[in-house]
Amino acid sequence: MIETTLVLLKPDCLADRHCGNVINRFEAAGLEIVGCKMMLLADDELAEHYAHVLDRPFYPDLKAFMQSSPVIALALSGKNAVALVRELMGPTDSRKAAKGTIRGDFGRDVMFNVVHGSDSPENAIVELKRFFADSELFEVSLKR
Ligand code: RTP
Ligand code: MG
Repeated sequence: MIETTLVLLKPDCLADRHCGNVINRFEAAGLEIVGCKMMLLADDELAEHYAHVLDRPFYPDLKAFMQSSPVIALALSGKNAVALVRELMGPTDSRKAAKGTIRGDFGRDVMFNVVHGSDSPENAIVELKRFFADSELFEVSLKR
């Protein structure tokens, strides 16, 4: 199944200059960039995106972290893109993520965990709409 999923390269990814390495992992796994933008997340965007953790005690810290610099939003397309991205990322807590996963190699802990990836095809559709206008998503093909 060809799917498109939302990835956010979080502020730690930018600050630690891992964006190239992280994007390379996705491309090497066969995923294609069909949308890309750098953005500072607004309060309401972030609250919507993290609605499921809004009432958790760590939300203020997460908010401060996620707004500490711009993030890079990517729309990635490919076979089973949602599950594939989650597999490449590793689990939420970077300390528990295996070496060879993005979080295991570049993350620090449960908050500084480098990337976000949509957790289901249904959420991918909602999240792509949240971060990209239709005109900002492309069908990428090149005739050689
Ligand atoms: P994400 O949404 O960012 O891809 O991460 P995830 O699915 O692996 O984890 P999720 O449960 O959706 O949590 C969202 C973000 O909240 C922060 N978090 N901190 N201190 C804590 O116990 C804790 N738990 C979650 C993380 O930054 C996580 O990515
Ligand atoms: Mg999540």
